[in-house]
Amino acid sequence: HMMGDNGMGGNNGPMGHGAMQELQATDEPTQPLPIPTALQPNRVTGDTVYYTVEATKGTSQFFKDGKKSETFGYNGDLLGPMIELPKGKTVVIDTINRLDEPTTFHWHGLVIPADMDGGPHQTVAPGEQAQVRLDIDQEPSTLWFHPHPMGLTAEQVYKGLAGLLYVTDDAQNGLPNEYGVDDIPLIVQDRLFTPNGELDYDAHMNVDGTTGDTILANGAINTTFDVQTETLRVRLVNGSNARDFDFTLSNEAEMTQIATDGGPLERPIPLETLTLTPGERAEVLIDFSQVEDVAALKADGVTFTTFRVGELDKASIKIPVTETMERSTDETADRRLTLFGMGNMVSINGKTYDPERIDIEAKRGDTEVWEIENKPDMMGGMTHPFHIHGVQFRVISRDGNPPSDQEKGWKDTVAVAPDERVKIEITFTKTGTFMYHCHILEHEENGMMGQVNVTE
Ligand code: C2O
Ligand code: CU
Ligand code: CU
Repeated sequence: HMMGDNGMGGNNGPMGHGAMQELQATDEPTQPLPIPTALQPNRVTGDTVYYTVEATKGTSQFFKDGKKSETFGYNGDLLGPMIELPKGKTVVIDTINRLDEPTTFHWHGLVIPADMDGGPHQTVAPGEQAQVRLDIDQEPSTLWFHPHPMGLTAEQVYKGLAGLLYVTDDAQNGLPNEYGVDDIPLIVQDRLFTPNGELDYDAHMNVDGTTGDTILANGAINTTFDVQTETLRVRLVNGSNARDFDFTLSNEAEMTQIATDGGPLERPIPLETLTLTPGERAEVLIDFSQVEDVAALKADGVTFTTFRVGELDKASIKIPVTETMERSTDETADRRLTLFGMGNMVSINGKTYDPERIDIEAKRGDTEVWEIENKPDMMGGMTHPFHIHGVQFRVISRDGNPPSDQEKGWKDTVAVAPDERVKIEITFTKTGTFMYHCHILEHEENGMMGQVNVTE
């Protein structure tokens, strides 16, 4: 775990930045878990679905007796809607910036050409709009969208800009899929508030990533969800700026992981603890058949969502099992990337991000093995979640060993622990200049990012 494992917990770092916040149990009254709206298309013609997404300023009250804070949201005050992206269709989105500052609309995990990807080069100025065309051609999965403007990403996400993208297909494979009923999203974030209950990024900003002591699920503190079916599908998104979460359940509730970042796992994996670093997602099925009355979902041991279990519908769920693909773990690396540093001294291969510099040239259709090394420093270092735009990749080894079963699915973000070497296999199928970076948002802002240019 990020600070816990490297002896830095609670101390101020060497460069004078603030401490990592400990998560605290809350004494706020419970409230029903907000379920983000499923965004209605403006229209559907043939194979094309049209949506509008607006980044706006809003206000949100997080604490019962607190003040309202200024927050950002997509089509609302905080966070964003769930946007369905049907596989095989073209999705056209009018993106509108109603903030007073530039933003971008990045579709994290979508395999699309770079000019549609909403990275730092695709800025939308205040008051402006831009249209993107997304051809959806990848596995059903839980992706997300968030801003990516240079220097403003971390703050805009912290203030609330994050939404859900569900890639769907017609074959539901027997999985629960009634949105908000037996199939729910949980965007999990830690936040720090002022004594009167306001979010204040500047006051809490930390060069190693802004952390908070309060856990939000879909933007709310201490949430409850009334479970109606024996099996609930939960799509977890670690939407925090910098914190890893270890998720566990109480009271005989059991969790089985069925999907990684980019699609279904080959086989379902029963789990006691699910760890997600910033940017990572997982889908789990939770079995409530043995639960009396309530079960808690905890992050790092702290309850943040309580499932209330009444009469349950016993739908029989058959979890699909696909063919296991044998993969070699000793592929030689085509490229080596070294992640190094902390705070504002972070780098990849000794360099910090330069929008004018292409770090890697790749050919479309080629399969490459990248070895990502996390070089420890005097302080021991910290885990960096390594993310690449425009692709879904496979993890082939960790320090030469096969990855855990939990990682044998499509990934777009992979945790690399201090002193670890992770090999991934990537096939670039789209062209243009894509970012790769640490998904601790403040590390990305501090330059832990590079560019790969994919050409025909
Ligand atoms: Cu989730 Cu470069 O982003
Ligand atoms: Cu991304
Ligand atoms: Cu990092």
